[in-house]
Amino acid sequence: MADVKRFTHDSRIPGWDRAADLDKEPAVVPDAATTEVPAELRAAIEDAVRRFPVGDSAFIPVLYAVQEQYGWCSPEGIIQAAAVLGRTPAALTAVATFYDMFEMEPLGRKTVYVCTNISCSLCGADELLEALEGEFGEDPDVNVRGFECLGACDIAPMASVNGAYVGPIALNEVPELARQIREGEDPLPAKQMIRRPCADPKVAEK
Ligand code: FES
Repeated sequence: MADVKRFTHDSRIPGWDRAADLDKEPAVVPDAATTEVPAELRAAIEDAVRRFPVGDSAFIPVLYAVQEQYGWCSPEGIIQAAAVLGRTPAALTAVATFYDMFEMEPLGRKTVYVCTNISCSLCGADELLEALEGEFGEDPDVNVRGFECLGACDIAPMASVNGAYVGPIALNEVPELARQIREGEDPLPAKQMIRRPCADPKVAEK
């Protein structure tokens, strides 16, 4: 079995393992008049807010917009989003640190999330994760990490590659998959969930 990486709180996935700083000043809402926000980020946030009855419901698409802008949920981006929303940065940070798909430190923009939950684990996910980590090493452009159930257990072992669900992935397919990721090609097209036959023949076009 592969040696499964553990984080400081003994979980297989990263999480919030920093103690709260109780000496910090109470959070304030950034001044919307003086906080500069890139135009494309402001437009994405305002578009997200328009789609929900209350602004707080838009936190997740707003955080995705911040991550798209900066490559991670940077403190600068969180403050800008908070200024547009009229909320404290802490409110957004609380959501960003709860969900695994938001990065709280700069990492590669290409994402390879290997599911290491039970179904995938039983089908060799730990070895798959190890092989992909070995392919990319310290490559700053690629963020390879384990993820807990991505909800596609029937294609175990699987990974989400830049958002595309791919599986089952055999170990001997890893070099080709890694090449495709490096060169920006479609990852293992024949194994993408979106291309599987479906009762709705038009689903792949949607
Ligand atoms: S266990 Fe891997 S997708 Fe559910």
